[in-house]
Amino acid sequence: MADALPDAMPDAMRFVTMSAPGGPEVLHIDTRPVPRPGPAEVLVRVAAAGVNRPDLLQRQGNYGPPPGASDILGLEIAGTVVAVGSHAGRWRVGDTVCALLAGGGYAEYSVAPAAQCLPVPGSLSFVEAAGIPETFFTVWTNLFQRGGLQCGETVLIHGGTSGIGTTAIQLARAFGARVFATAGSAAKCAACRELGADVAIDYRADDFVRAVSAATDGRGVDVILDMVGGSYVPRNLAALAVEGRLVQIAFMQGDKVDLALYPLMLKRLTFTGSTLRPRTVAQKGAIARELESMVWPLLRDGTVRPIISRTFALDRAADAHRELEAGAHIGKLILTV
Ligand SMILES: NC(=O)c1ccc[n+]([C@@H]2O[C@H](COP(=O)([O-])OP(=O)(O)OC[C@H]3O[C@@H](n4cnc5c(N)ncnc54)[C@H](OP(=O)(O)O)[C@@H]3O)[C@@H](O)[C@H]2O)c1
Repeated sequence: MADALPDAMPDAMRFVTMSAPGGPEVLHIDTRPVPRPGPAEVLVRVAAAGVNRPDLLQRQGNYGPPPGASDILGLEIAGTVVAVGSHAGRWRVGDTVCALLAGGGYAEYSVAPAAQCLPVPGSLSFVEAAGIPETFFTVWTNLFQRGGLQCGETVLIHGGTSGIGTTAIQLARAFGARVFATAGSAAKCAACRELGADVAIDYRADDFVRAVSAATDGRGVDVILDMVGGSYVPRNLAALAVEGRLVQIAFMQGDKVDLALYPLMLKRLTFTGSTLRPRTVAQKGAIARELESMVWPLLRDGTVRPIISRTFALDRAADAHRELEAGAHIGKLILTV
């Protein structure tokens, strides 16, 4: 049983609900009881919540919460711990944290597994901290754990100015990789270079396979982080070096592919991928511990930082979704609560 809520805690909270699956207009504010933390959970008074592309899919009815997760949108928050379960470990009331959630972020209060909370790094604001968990957990587990990116290797990051991309460029650079990124305009390519990309490719003006080949003397890159899928998959295989690794984290162009397998064998490639949300608390907790030891020092000293494009008040979640769908942003959109 969770600890009782402190007396000063309201019984009800505001949150963003959906009248039905659909466009951004289905989002509106409602109230419901403040959730109670379980034994290994904490209750956080949310100061800011990240908006991610998977939220758009959930709003459209195409990406339901995993069993047991909150039905409220929102995969990441930052705020203050206001109640702790009996087995919540290191966390105390008053701690400032950011947390990865399987749902529940678009609300005044969220329950988070204790293992998926991390301290707000250094002097970062709640808005900045709320922009960390979803992309840093995803990039860490895919680029470094699955893709095995090593210092001195080359990496191609598609969607370089996305929330995921801005994180991946900085982390790859910080860990000593030579970074290639793709983006859909000259201005977005300039932003990729500012974040640390050595080579930025405007995929609307140039063929990334040709550009990678030209910049690597025909060798190709060691690792590709891809969220596009579809027609990109065979082209990604063509852009990889011998022993290269392709890590699939989404398929904005579709998940059906017509693929010649011979390049996979000839170059001894590895094709892998993962999706974060349905993974267990223990698995997410293990990623959190690695992030805290390997990446938190870089966030504290400013080597890497969450890139915040714009903030919206909680009751303007629909506008935040419209902005994310329009795709002009660079970095993260954040709701302030
Ligand atoms: N597997 C996982 O665990 C996991 C976790 C989190 C997110 N994701 C996925 O990762 C992706 C990025 O998420 P996010 O929240 O960072 O999204 P985001 O900020 O909205 O970024 C999406 C990016 O995709 C690019 N893009 C869109 N259509 C494209 C196309 N046809 N070809 C090339 N680029 C295209 C856009 O840039 P341009 O303007 O340059 O085209 C934009 O920067 C999403 O698909 C999301 O579902 C996966």
